[in-house]
Amino acid sequence: SSSEDEGEEYLFKIVIIGDSAVGKSNLLSRYARNEFNLHSKATIGVEFQTQTLEIDGKEVKAQIWDTAGQERFRAVISSYYRGAFGALIVYDISRNSTFDSIPRWLDELKTHSDTTVARMLVGNKGDLENIRAVSVEEGKSLAETEGLFFMETSALDSTNVEKAFEIVIREIY
Ligand code: GTP
Ligand code: MG
Repeated sequence: SSSEDEGEEYLFKIVIIGDSAVGKSNLLSRYARNEFNLHSKATIGVEFQTQTLEIDGKEVKAQIWDTAGQERFRAVISSYYRGAFGALIVYDISRNSTFDSIPRWLDELKTHSDTTVARMLVGNKGDLENIRAVSVEEGKSLAETEGLFFMETSALDSTNVEKAFEIVIREIY
């Protein structure tokens, strides 16, 4: 290792994917900066944040990439996935269409990833229980079938956000 002080350093790339407006950017901002934006704009291109955590006394850096769910705003797909060791595949529990898109996102991930990827299926907007369209069971069942971790989150009220990222990061580590 080439780190200056104590021991080794680890840097892992993680990508967030899923349809537009499922809350990818807000999951990232909640995790990395504890910020939530009720009126966030659609992402154009690619953004990333680096988050440092300590696992087993080692410093681990997660470089978390976020891109547009909308096709026309997406950056070069292959470079987005290149070198990714983890992925959060996100849908919105209040919109069925975003859940129906998950197999397509899994296919894209599989096509473009160059290593084994730790994958977490994320049902976001868990706070919208009153307009829920996708049951917890449906999420769990898809995750089981596809061999994914599964969690429902809320970027709005922070539920499970840190957990979802950290399970993926620990799995990679
Ligand atoms: P693209 O960049 O277009 O792909 O969208 P995105 O997936 O990054 O969605 P974004 O984070 O911009 O959120 C879309 C909308 O959903 C915004 O109005 C957010 O405030 C809202 N939102 C995000 N997460 C949650 C959540 O957990 N609960 C609720 N109620 N709203 C959320
Ligand atoms: Mg976004």
